Amino acid sequence: MKRNPFIIALALLAASCSGGQAIYKDASAPIEKRVNDLLGRMTLEEKVMQLNQYAVGVADNANNIGEIYESVPPTIGSLIYVQDDAVLRNAIQKKAMTESRLGIPLIFATDVIHGFRTIYQVPLGQGCSFDPELVTAMARETAREARRSGVDWTFSPMIDVCRDPRWGRVVEGFGEDPYVNSMFSAATVRGYQGQTLASDTTVAACLKHYVGYGASEAGRDYAFSEVSRQTLWDTYLPPYEAGVKAGASTVMSSFNDLSGVPGSANRYTLTDVLRGMWGFDGAVVSDWDAVVQLVNQGYSEDLKAAAADAVNAGVDIDMMSHGYDRYLAELVKEGKVSGKTVDEAVRRVLRLKFRLGLFENPYTADYESLYFQPGALEKARKLAAESMVLLKNDGLLPIRDKKRIAVIGPGAANGDVLIGSWRCRGRADEAKTLLSAIRDEFSGIAEIRYAEGCRIQGVDTGDGNFSVGAGLTGIDGRKLTAEEMSGFSQARSVAMWSDVVILCLGEDSSWGGENASMASISLPPVQEALAMEIAGTGKPVVLALCNGRPLELVRLESVSNAIVELWQPGTMGADAFADILSGDVNPSGKLDITFPYYVGQIPVYYDRKPSARRGNQGVYKDMTSEPLYPFGHGLSYTSFSYGKASIGGASDTLRFSGRQHLTAEVDVTNTGQVSGDEVVLWYVSDPYGHIIRPVRELRHFERVSLEPGETKTVTFPIDPVADLGFVDEDGRHFVEPGEFHLYVGDNDLVLFLE
Ligand code: GLC
Repeated sequence: MKRNPFIIALALLAASCSGGQAIYKDASAPIEKRVNDLLGRMTLEEKVMQLNQYAVGVADNANNIGEIYESVPPTIGSLIYVQDDAVLRNAIQKKAMTESRLGIPLIFATDVIHGFRTIYQVPLGQGCSFDPELVTAMARETAREARRSGVDWTFSPMIDVCRDPRWGRVVEGFGEDPYVNSMFSAATVRGYQGQTLASDTTVAACLKHYVGYGASEAGRDYAFSEVSRQTLWDTYLPPYEAGVKAGASTVMSSFNDLSGVPGSANRYTLTDVLRGMWGFDGAVVSDWDAVVQLVNQGYSEDLKAAAADAVNAGVDIDMMSHGYDRYLAELVKEGKVSGKTVDEAVRRVLRLKFRLGLFENPYTADYESLYFQPGALEKARKLAAESMVLLKNDGLLPIRDKKRIAVIGPGAANGDVLIGSWRCRGRADEAKTLLSAIRDEFSGIAEIRYAEGCRIQGVDTGDGNFSVGAGLTGIDGRKLTAEEMSGFSQARSVAMWSDVVILCLGEDSSWGGENASMASISLPPVQEALAMEIAGTGKPVVLALCNGRPLELVRLESVSNAIVELWQPGTMGADAFADILSGDVNPSGKLDITFPYYVGQIPVYYDRKPSARRGNQGVYKDMTSEPLYPFGHGLSYTSFSYGKASIGGASDTLRFSGRQHLTAEVDVTNTGQVSGDEVVLWYVSDPYGHIIRPVRELRHFERVSLEPGETKTVTFPIDPVADLGFVDEDGRHFVEPGEFHLYVGDNDLVLFLE
């Protein structure tokens, strides 16, 4: 019997409605049903527009030059929203909801990296806290400020493992270790996304920059990164796997050329691994212009070919290249991109929009009053304090019975050094300065005097760059000018007046972040010269550093009695530092990245592979091969001792079967006079394997608080495959029988897997 097409059409239309309205508009319908219904209603052109992302407002990232739209097509999928203007946002959203045929809302995205308006410690510092729970709480507060200010999606966390402090973006990640980056990746995702994205206090997270960007050659940005398949799995993929398992909604594909195939055209990483092996059902957005940059990189012939390469590899959304909006429909019609590929990409974008609840709640109210909430400020202060690292202390700290304190240096009365790069809506003038916090902390206890001593900047070379490191002297031999040193005499006299000097040095925020690579990791020579001038007074010096990368400190180390690494500690960072100075807070941070003794050692990191020669063969002949401060280094005002580690009561060689889960434990005691936190680090080593393993790998950590004399038993639940095993170049996790070592404190526990 011939079926009447009209009847069929009516039946199909009826099937796609519920209660008389289209299913995709029915908030009670399952999300996948709503996605399927909406996708089925869309034209190819409408689908393509969902896969585009433009910027709106005034771009705040000087590295990205692109049209900033005052108005955008109502059918665009998402926007980078750099303007803190809920009225602008809602006007654009209203246009999308009312002027487009299907009324699909936009997603508004922003780089909320370490805070929205309340700014927290930078991620490289956060990792030194070894406190993922606190970072989750920070991300919860941040998501609340952001979402209610109109941001639905943050391009964070950045989880690029990096062993090269010359790379400016080292500040954005959690240091050199894959496990630390993995723990903080998951912690940040949990904080941002909470229990549901359909809430005005959560935002969609974005794992970036996928993948291997932190291996940028010689620390230069946007560069080639040589990463073998084995190293990809050993070092660079684990934080992404952890973030996907934590439920991250999106991933951002990277700029870098990943051993010949760029991150934004790499089907192996974007589809085979991310979707095929890990089952990721979220959306992938390219980095800014990463699609068109495939042409610069010599991978795609032109923008049209780049669009095909990117979407066929697995990039769903084209950020700002205009490759998709210009060519994708044409590419489908030419058969170079399948309609299914486009549909699957659109499906993931629509799924995100439904999960965010944007169809029901597309607008936002301006919540200016929500910033700097007490809970947020308290977490900011605690995270700043926990992440600061006491690198050196000859007993000068905490400061006791000093009546005259000199606060000297370009970082003292400077909010910029505390807020750092990628500051979102943060403002340097909203951060209390170190000088102000020290004045508050020691008010009525000591007299405070201040001298700037010198400017923080290096010399502007006039070409939009600046020379800040050893490039000023020592390499090109230029001597400092009288003008650059004009503040030294004032600084010297203030130091001579004092009982102790707090010397505040560091980096301008623009020396870190994107497109901020440095060949030298020394502070500007004018700052080092100031330190030598102050050292010449013979007064005890506490060196306070605000910086976004490990620095070459060997010269400053020799003239400082104590050194505190503050990183770029955020809105409450100065108060946190003052608490440490006075002893109100006992420092507990440990380095999540190595500080080289000299820039020429780079890359230098703790989980290196064993050398073919032992002893002093193969080491540098002109200086030590050891770093100045290794990963895991960090002092306290108290002392801790570790008992004998054991597993199931056995504390000598232990034999066990491959599937048996074990629990290692160790007693940790506070043997000092003041309470303090100890970060207990558990390392494993597999000395012999068919794939060579690092000399040791961090596989568990825990922060414990101990009163003087108190002892706690700290445990490490061991899953042999996850904690003792490793992954091969095809991503297969496994553990080999044989000898293993477990290191905690000064313990070396030997295990044999049968
Ligand atoms: C930048 C950065 C990326 C950021 C994006 C949007 O170029 O590489 O981290 O999220 O553009 O601002």
